This record gives sequence, structure tokens and C-alpha cells, in this order.
Amino acid sequence: MKIAPSILSADFGNLERDVKAICDAGCDLVHIDVMDGHFVPNLTIGPVVVSSVAKCATKPLDIHLMVENNTFFVELFAPLKPEYITFHIEEEKHPHRLIQKIKSLGIKAGIVLNPHTPPEAVEFLLQDLDMVLLMSVNPGFGGQSFIESVIPKAKRLDALRKKYNPKCLIEVDGGVSNKNIEALKDAGVDVVVAGSYVFNHASKKEAIESLQI
Ligand code: DX5
Ligand code: ZN
Repeated sequence: MKIAPSILSADFGNLERDVKAICDAGCDLVHIDVMDGHFVPNLTIGPVVVSSVAKCATKPLDIHLMVENNTFFVELFAPLKPEYITFHIEEEKHPHRLIQKIKSLGIKAGIVLNPHTPPEAVEFLLQDLDMVLLMSVNPGFGGQSFIESVIPKAKRLDALRKKYNPKCLIEVDGGVSNKNIEALKDAGVDVVVAGSYVFNHASKKEAIESLQI
């Protein structure tokens, strides 16, 4: 299991310290939640802060867009050379076109599904995708409870990706902890995002290691 701690739960007054800490603790990706106050009822960070994070991160960036104007934000973040940019299918009229655009910029492309969106929504996009991110909370805030229905959903997505594109990764975001990590692994999940679980733990290293099963 790959681990992508979400810096949404970091101490923003000590962002460099916290980003270095999760990288040193052995995370695989640094998950960055970009919220615009329109698609979700919260506002987070833009390219100025993300570029500071990129400078001190020693692991690749995983940018999760929760915004209305996806193309604008893809162009804004592309110069920071993240490993992944993921966007919500619920907010994109032309997901296939945007996947091509992200990949043309040399970035891996992923689509995010809200809790109500079925995995079949990406069936005919899977062959072009590097990742599908399943939300296991409603997007907008850290520290929410895990929505259990993501487990059967991940299993259905796992069957679909085996058919269309076995290389496409499945990531789950929200409420992830040592209590649900085994069920996620069994369902075929490859990457988990963990915010409050990692940052509220006395030892970030121990928290990350407890998810690396
Ligand atoms: C929610 C974000 C998540 C969030 C996860 O909209 O996408 O990445 O930070 O935080 P936890 O792990 O605390 O649920
Ligand atoms: Zn996220």
C-alpha cells in the first residue's frame, strides 16, 4: 500500500517542517488538497504555497483539485511538475479532453469520484487514466468519518480496471486509518490518502508504517 499524507492536516505555520517530516517518515506521495470555495465549501491553497511545498518535498506531489474551473487550475499547477493531478468528474463536462491535456503536460492524470458517483462513470476513460481516486468522505474537510460503501465500490472498480487497464491505480481519500486499511487492501486499493490520522499521531513514522501493509 502506498501512502499519501494530506497536508491539509499539517500545521500551516510550520509547513516546511511538516512536509519534510512526512517525507522523512517514508511516505510515497505528498497529497495536496486544492479547494476553491465553490465546488466545495472550503478554501485552501494556490500555486504560491504549493510551490513552497514543492521546494521542500522530497517525494512527488499528488494534487487533488476540488474546483469548478479544472482547466484553469491544471494550467496553474503544471509548472510545479506534480506527479499526479486528479480532478472531480462531477465538475467536468469534457473529462476525456482534460485527461489528454494533463498527460500532454507530462503529468499523470487521475479522476476523482464523490461518494455517490458509481465506478462505472470512468469505465470508458480507464484506458487513458493513471489513477482513479475514490472519496470516502464528502470532499471539503479533513477529519471526517470513513464512508464504508467505498469498500464495495473499490471492488467493482478493481474488476473494471483489470478489464480495461490493470496499470491504473486505485486511491482512496478520507477517514483512512489503521481500522480500515486491511479492508481497503483486500478491496484492491493501491494508494491511501491520510490526513488527520498521520498528523494527529505522536509519531508520523509509526502512523505511516501502520498503513504500509
Ligand atoms: C477532503 C480531502 C482529504 C482530507 C483527508 O476533501 O480530499 O484529502 O484532507 O483528511 P482525513 O484523512 O483527515 O480524512
Ligand atoms: Zn484529497
